[in-house]
Amino acid sequence: MASGCVFDRLGLEILDPEEETFLLFSQHIPSQNLGFVDPKSTTLDINVAGKDYVIHQSPTILNRPGSTTGAVVWKITPLVADWLARSDNLLWTSGILSPSSNVLELGCGISGLVGLVLAPLLSRYTLTDQSYVARLVEKNIDENSHLQTSSKPSTTSHKRKGRPTVVQSKTELRFLALDWELDEVTSSLTGDDKAKSFDVVIACDCIYNDTLIQPLVQTCADVCGLRSADENATDKPAVCLVAQQLRDPEIFEGWIKEFSRYFRVWRVPDNALTEELRSNPGFVVHLGILRDAAEIRNPS
Ligand SMILES: C[S@@+](CC[C@H](N)C(=O)[O-])C[C@H]1O[C@@H](n2cnc3c(N)ncnc32)[C@H](O)[C@@H]1O
Repeated sequence: MASGCVFDRLGLEILDPEEETFLLFSQHIPSQNLGFVDPKSTTLDINVAGKDYVIHQSPTILNRPGSTTGAVVWKITPLVADWLARSDNLLWTSGILSPSSNVLELGCGISGLVGLVLAPLLSRYTLTDQSYVARLVEKNIDENSHLQTSSKPSTTSHKRKGRPTVVQSKTELRFLALDWELDEVTSSLTGDDKAKSFDVVIACDCIYNDTLIQPLVQTCADVCGLRSADENATDKPAVCLVAQQLRDPEIFEGWIKEFSRYFRVWRVPDNALTEELRSNPGFVVHLGILRDAAEIRNPS
C-alpha cells in the first residue's frame, strides 16, 4: 500500500508550526524529571513487546562534562519501541514499514533499544549516534543477540514440497558513528550495495538543545534525500519519525519550524498511539516526508 494512505489517516497536515506549538503546550505537561528511565543504575531490565532486554548504561558517562545524554535510556524510547513492534501500528498497516524495510536511527543512545526490538521484523536496522556510545551500544546488541533471531523465508533453493524453507537468521542490526554536526550523510551508511537509501529514519528524544536543531533536521533531510538518488528504490518516499518528550516550548517551536522547512509534517493522533504513549501528555510523535527541493522553505 502506498505510504500516502497513512497521511490520509493522520488527519490534517501541520501547516502552522506556531499553532502546533500552542496546541501542544496548552495541555498540562507533567514534570518527568528530565525524562531518564533511571539515571543511577548501570543495568536496566526492560520488557518490550513481550521480550526481556538487559540494557547496560553509564551514569558515569552521563555525568561527564559535555553532552553525553545518550549514556542512559530515556523514558519515551521503550514506549516507542513497544508501539512500533505492534502489527496494528499504522506504519505497518500502511506499508511504510515492512519486512523488507531498511531503517536508520539517529541519536540512538547506548541502549539501541528501538533497533533491538524492530530489527528482527525488518531487513536491516542501522543505529547511529556519536562515537562515545559505541562501546555500550555494541555490548547491548551483543548481550541481547539471543532475542535477535527472526524467521525469514530462505533465499536458497532447498524447499519442502511447495513451501519455502524458513530459516532462523540473525538480523542485520549494527551501529555506526554519525555525528550530525561533523559527518556527511552518504549512501554508504546503508552498508549494502543494493540498497542506497533508507525507508524510515527514526529519532527518539533528540530535541532538547537549540544548537542541535539545525544539524539534526539537516541530517534527517540528508538521510531522507538519499531516496531521490537511489534508482533501485521504490517510489515510496522515505518517512522521518520524530518522537519526543515536550519540555520547552521555545525548543519545540524552533524544531518544528526548522523541520517544516524541509518536511511536510503530521502529528500521530492519540487514537493511533498505544495507551502508554497516549497517557503521557508530554510525549508526541511526528511524521515527515521530505519536500521537493523547489518547495524547501527559506528560514523565517
Ligand atoms: C536525550 S538522548 C536520547 C538517547 C536515546 N535516543 C534514548 O531516547 O534513550 C539524545 C541523543 O542525541 C545524541 N546526540 C546529541 N548530539 C548529537 C550529534 N551532534 N550527533 C549525533 N547524535 C547526537 C546524544 O548522543 C544522545 O544519544
